[in-house]
Amino acid sequence: MQIKTQEIRTNLGEAVRLGFSKNPKSISSMFLYDAEGDRLFQEIMKMPEYYLTRCEEEIFHMQKEQILKEMQVFEEPFNLMEFGAGDGSKTKILLHYLLENGADFTYYPVDISKHILSELAYSLQQEMPALKVHPMNFDYFDAIRETTHLNNRRNITLFLGSNMGNFTREQAVDFYKNFARESKTGNLLFVGIDRRKNPHIISQAYDDPHGITAAFNLNLLRRMNREMGADFDMEAFRHYSFYEPVSGEVRSYLISLKDQQVYFETLEEQFFFKKDELIHTEISKKYSPEEIDRLAEEAGYKVLCHFTDERQYFLDSLWEVP
Ligand code: AVJ
Repeated sequence: MQIKTQEIRTNLGEAVRLGFSKNPKSISSMFLYDAEGDRLFQEIMKMPEYYLTRCEEEIFHMQKEQILKEMQVFEEPFNLMEFGAGDGSKTKILLHYLLENGADFTYYPVDISKHILSELAYSLQQEMPALKVHPMNFDYFDAIRETTHLNNRRNITLFLGSNMGNFTREQAVDFYKNFARESKTGNLLFVGIDRRKNPHIISQAYDDPHGITAAFNLNLLRRMNREMGADFDMEAFRHYSFYEPVSGEVRSYLISLKDQQVYFETLEEQFFFKKDELIHTEISKKYSPEEIDRLAEEAGYKVLCHFTDERQYFLDSLWEVP
């Protein structure tokens, strides 16, 4: 299967140069996903503490008929886009049901990781040979441009697994406004969102006792060692994450454990880290259902309905471009 590729315009080198000259230092969470990061994130999804995956799977298993009925997928041919498709584990529940019931559609999984995308393409070919698939190795911004005017079919875009949690609220509004502006009336967006809940439950999901989330976050530095000839001492940094329940944001950092300097061969440049200095690596934002309604409306959508799990930990929200 051919994977459509486009130069991912934000490259790691530029991100390092820019992000490490800020105070506090920061680097975008999109760089967490090289082959090793993909593998570690798949481990995270298997951990009991990371409830998000189980909750969204439950929603799909229990409510797939209602979800797809609301999307009117059996009425006319459509394009099914998925932004940040990853290993597609949850989406496959919907894909199976669509195929079994004769829906006429093509699946366009979009991901910044070429590695996970080729794994997905391969597993889909094995499991659902009848499925029409066009993988796209794009970032979200190019994906919007490339997917809005593909053909004259209606687009249904999936944005699952709380991927949008990596945006601040402000960034999310901008992103969805832009998406709506580029979209045709009647196009749908189906967004998976992690809900506000007891802070202890959220904290544990991002600071697990197995150390997998720590390894996932620290892999950013390992990736720089591998790809940029950097010489990060992996023992000299530590993962830190905390949930702030008023803002609803989990913030993840890497802490420098000593005064140190790190040289980057590809940049021919070195960066200094003071003891206890932070590198901000990720935000994972949580929303209440009311906040989701307000966000969607502010971005210019009509909210059609919400689907939630038994424990009310997670929510999938269906929006229409008016
Ligand atoms: C893939 C962005 C949804 O923020 O929950 C998991 C990534 N980071 N544990 C999230 C992640 C730490 C995840 N998303």
